[in-house]
Amino acid sequence: MAKIKTVYVCQNCGVQSAKWVGKCNSCNEWNTYVEEQVGPPEKELTNWREKDSKSPTSKPIRLNEIENNSEKRIVTYDKELNRVLGGGIVYGSLVLIGGEPGIGKSTLMLQLALSSKRLKVLYVSGEESQQQIKMRAQRIGQSSDNCFILAETSTQHIFTQIREIQPDILVIDSIQTLHTPRIESAAGSVSQVRECTAELLKFAKESNTPVFLVGHITKEGSLAGPKVLEHMVDTVLQFEGDRHLAYRILRTVKNRFGSTSELGIYEMQSTGLREVSNPSEILISQREADSPGVAIGASIEGNRPLLIEIQSLVSTASYGTPQRSSTGFDAKRLNMLLAVLEKRGGFRLSSQDVFLNVAGGIKIEEPAIDLAVCASLVSGLHDAPISDKTAFAAEVGLGGEVRAVNRIDNRISEAEKLGFTEIFISKYNMKGLDPKKYEIKIRPFSRLTDVFEELLG
Ligand code: TYD
Ligand code: MG
Repeated sequence: MAKIKTVYVCQNCGVQSAKWVGKCNSCNEWNTYVEEQVGPPEKELTNWREKDSKSPTSKPIRLNEIENNSEKRIVTYDKELNRVLGGGIVYGSLVLIGGEPGIGKSTLMLQLALSSKRLKVLYVSGEESQQQIKMRAQRIGQSSDNCFILAETSTQHIFTQIREIQPDILVIDSIQTLHTPRIESAAGSVSQVRECTAELLKFAKESNTPVFLVGHITKEGSLAGPKVLEHMVDTVLQFEGDRHLAYRILRTVKNRFGSTSELGIYEMQSTGLREVSNPSEILISQREADSPGVAIGASIEGNRPLLIEIQSLVSTASYGTPQRSSTGFDAKRLNMLLAVLEKRGGFRLSSQDVFLNVAGGIKIEEPAIDLAVCASLVSGLHDAPISDKTAFAAEVGLGGEVRAVNRIDNRISEAEKLGFTEIFISKYNMKGLDPKKYEIKIRPFSRLTDVFEELLG
C-alpha cells in the first residue's frame, strides 16, 4: 500500500511545510498550520467522465484556427449579474461568488437557476436539504422544470449525476462543503478546497459548462480557504452589504472576461433579491433638504454613472489628537484632502474630529468625488448646508486646483436625469463640452478657493 504522506498546510495562504510551524513564513499569520494527509501523487484527479473513458489529450492548434467564442455568452434574466460578469455567463468559465453568511449567495444562485427556464441547471447543495431549497424556491415564487437539486458533497457522486443529467449550468453551494475521496483531510481544508476546485475546473473546461462556486468568507473578509482558489477561477464576485440593511452589492474582484470595476446592486425582499436598476435614486433619496455636511458626487463605477451622497461630521476634537475616520472612502486620500483644504483654503480642520461616510455602504475609489468630499467637509465645518440640487464631479490636486475627470458627459447627464439643477466641474473639462446640450447648469472652476467662495458666499 502506498504510504500516506502528511504535510502541514497554512489554512490562510495554502503554503505547505514538512513540519509544523507557529508562524507562516509566507503570509505571517500565526497558528494557521494544520496537518493534512495527501494521497499518493501519482493518482489522477477524479475525472468527471466515465471511469474507463480517456479524456482527450489536447493538441496544439494555430492561433488563427481557434474558434472565437468570446461573443457567445449565456445572457441571463438577471441584468445585474450579466453586468458584473461582463455581459453574460461565458461557456466553460468557473465563477466564484464570495460573501458573508446570510448575505444572499444561495438565494442569488437559486434565482439564477429558476429564472433560466430553458437551461438545465444542476444546483448542488452541501449545506441545505432538498426540502429547505424547495421552501426557498417557494418563497422566491418561481419554479422551473429544468432546475435539478442535488444534496451531495462528494465530488465523485456529483460527477456521476452530472453525467446523468448533463446540465447546462452547474452551481456548487458551497465549495467548502465538498470533498474528494482522493484526499483524506476534512472538507473545507485548504487541500480539499484546492483539489475539488481543480476537478471542477477540469470539468468546466472540458465540457464547456459554466460552473458557479459559492465560497465562504473569513472573519477578516477575505475568501475562506486559500488565495489559490482565486487564482484558479476565471471570475471572482464578491457579495457585500450590511446584513441588516436591504441593499446588497455584487462586485467584480477579478474577471478574465470583462472589467473588474463593475457593480451590481440588489435589494433583499421577502420574495428574494430584486435588481436595482437605478441605484442613484436609492443612494441619495433619504436626505433632508438642508442638512450640513452633505454633498453629492457624480461617480462612475464600471460603466455605470452613480450619484452618491458624501456625509461628513466635523466637530471640535475633545482630545489632543483629532480623530479621522472614513467609511467607504480611502482614509489616506481623506487626510490629503484635509491638508489641501487647510493649506490652500485656510480652513481650520487640524483641530477637528472628522468623520466621513459614503452613504449606502458603497466603497468609492475614484478621485472624481474629491470635490464632493471637500464640499461636504467644508459644509460640515461651517454648518452651512449645500443645496440638494447641486452635484460635484472633479478631482482635487495638491495645489488646491480643480482637475478634470474622465467621462464628464456621462456624469452630467446622470445628474440631469436625477433632477439636479447645477453641477460643479473642472474648467479643464469644458473642452469639447457643449453646455447648451444640457438643461442642468454647468459651473466650471479651476481653483478650490473659487468653489468655496461660490458655495459659502
Ligand atoms: P442566503 O441566500 O441563505 O445567504 P447565504 O447563502 O449567503 O448564506 O440568504 C439568507 C438571508 O436572506 C436570510 O437572512 C433570509 C433572507 N431572505 C430574505 O430576506 N428573503 C428571501 O426571499 C430569501 C430567500 C431570503
Ligand atoms: Mg447559503
